[in-house]
Amino acid sequence: MPGRISIITRNLIFALHLLFSTLILRVEQPVSQGVRVVAAPGSDITLGCFFPHSENDVLYNLIVVWRRGDTEMVHSYKQQEDKLEKQSAAYRGRTRLYPDQLAAGNASLRLTGVQASDHGEYTCAGANEQGPFQMEIVLLVAAPYEEPQLDIQTTCDSIVLTFRSALGFPEPTVLWKIETGSDITNQSNTTLDLKDGGTLRGAEQDGAEA
Ligand SMILES: *[C@@H]1O[C@H](CO)[C@@H](O)[C@H](O)[C@H]1NC(C)=O
Ligand SMILES: *[C@@H]1O[C@H](CO)[C@@H](O)[C@H](O)[C@H]1NC(C)=O
Ligand SMILES: *[C@@H]1O[C@H](CO)[C@@H](O)[C@H](O)[C@H]1NC(C)=O
Repeated sequence: MPGRISIITRNLIFALHLLFSTLILRVEQPVSQGVRVVAAPGSDITLGCFFPHSENDVLYNLIVVWRRGDTEMVHSYKQQEDKLEKQSAAYRGRTRLYPDQLAAGNASLRLTGVQASDHGEYTCAGANEQGPFQMEIVLLVAAPYEEPQLDIQTTCDSIVLTFRSALGFPEPTVLWKIETGSDITNQSNTTLDLKDGGTLRGAEQDGAEA
């Protein structure tokens, strides 16, 4: 479902300014070091994890544990089996390793049905006959906003400008700028309501006097 930002104004001049204005959707992302992967809500993603190995390693001795943050168990593998007893409920049924890749030093994790709450820092840690290993990866849950489309409606005492933008995530900062470059955002009244799955709904109402 597309997102929507609309602006209602009784001030014709202000409305005309807006016609020539630029709607800027700016999404702020957390700052963190390490490998970053961006996934859209609802998509499937593979988080990469690679470790030193040798042809002579016995797979039975490989341990792989994927965690989110310091404690949340995402996926665990030991003695050639998935060990999911302590897996966080949030990841149940949504994770898997690639068994045929493990002997090649590849413990990448497949995560299906990415949700906003999956956002965060992941650690792939474990050990094999070459010793312990650890890798960090940051999952950003985000989707680009498409170029907003403008729609104008006139009623007897107001003009409604609606900008629609399909599927963006997370919630953007909305700025309105007029031709001169002046920021007129705070001459209006913005509310955004981001639904799960990346739908943006919003209404912006101008507080300017007629
Ligand atoms: C690791 O395995 C995944 C899943 O098969 C694959 O997509 C990826 O390319 C592999 N990476 C390397 C470096 O082999
Ligand atoms: C409007 O925004 C400008 C910066 O863009 C700020 O300096 C000013 O204080 C704001 N005015 C109000 C009423 O919030
Ligand atoms: C913004 O809208 C809310 C509810 O519609 C209203 O209570 C508030 O006073 C408005 N603020 C401005 C600055 O117009």
